[in-house]
Amino acid sequence: MKKTILTGIRPTGNLHLGHYFGACQNWLKLQEDYDFYLEIADVQALTDNFDHPEKVRKNVKEITIDILSAGIDPNKVHLFLQSKIPEIAELTVFYSNLVTIARLYRNPTVKTEIAQKKALFGNEGESVTYGFVGYPVSQAADITAFRGEWIPVGEDQLPLIEQCREIVRKFNHIYGKTLLEPEPLLSETPRIKGLDGSEKMGKSLGNAIYLSDDEKTIHDKIMNAITDPNKIKKDDPANPDICMVYYYHKLIKNENIHTVCEECKNGTRGCVQCKKELIEKMNEFLEPIREKRSYYLEHSEEVKEILEKGSKEAREKAKEVVKEVKEKMQIDYENFD
Ligand code: TRP
Repeated sequence: MKKTILTGIRPTGNLHLGHYFGACQNWLKLQEDYDFYLEIADVQALTDNFDHPEKVRKNVKEITIDILSAGIDPNKVHLFLQSKIPEIAELTVFYSNLVTIARLYRNPTVKTEIAQKKALFGNEGESVTYGFVGYPVSQAADITAFRGEWIPVGEDQLPLIEQCREIVRKFNHIYGKTLLEPEPLLSETPRIKGLDGSEKMGKSLGNAIYLSDDEKTIHDKIMNAITDPNKIKKDDPANPDICMVYYYHKLIKNENIHTVCEECKNGTRGCVQCKKELIEKMNEFLEPIREKRSYYLEHSEEVKEILEKGSKEAREKAKEVVKEVKEKMQIDYENFD
């Protein structure tokens, strides 16, 4: 039996190279060998964006197209939309009895996110909703609804997997063995750095290269990327290890990487030349993705059908799980005795 892999992504923006190298590349390998459920977590995205539903709605289509263009094969993966699976909402309600509010507040991921909200909006009490503090419960429902065994995630998500494991143990203890305890599958690639040299590429940081960027955008972004600040003149020797241009040459596997490195170190390569070469290579790298993107943009009916098919498959599985959960919780009422 193939192991079941489940992961989710919030539709809050387009995919960038951080997502691609940090997550998608791993998914591309996993889709070959596992029963893979990939969730577009639109309901979870609303916990943070309930007052901007149009933003989530727009990004469902965008992110689905990005995922398909990056090479996810809808015939191998159950690519589905969270809101199409009401069983997830049902499980969330059942699990909510198994988690204390104090425990949710102690969850490190929730804690960090509350601190960020506090910094943005001031008074924590007013900005933190029930839905937000409870999203780890809903995420536990995402995972268990499909009997997810391995959960590919970044490190920031580990406390959510741990919280899910606790819910599973508690459920099984009270109602009898029903659910599986999932395990995280950490991506081999660490965080991808931003164009500005910061440790993380992120939408809010404005330092990202998107899979959907066109040639002009790539040109402008790379021309502004951070290089060794000690290199003033074109033929000054420099340190490639602190240069973002070199970093991206490596990331997209420029086959001339040794030449780039040596010439940079010995001062025979100017930054402008080096950036131009990167722009060319980056466009080569993005071109096949762009081609698929424009295909799907023109065939959005097909995109809709892909999500519908994936959601239908996912729902079959979730229905089975909920049936068993309700039996164990004695709320199945097949008969009254
Ligand atoms: N919380 C995850 C994130 O923000 C997305 C997500 C939703 C997820 N449901 C999931 C991840 C289930 C793993 C499993 O990145």
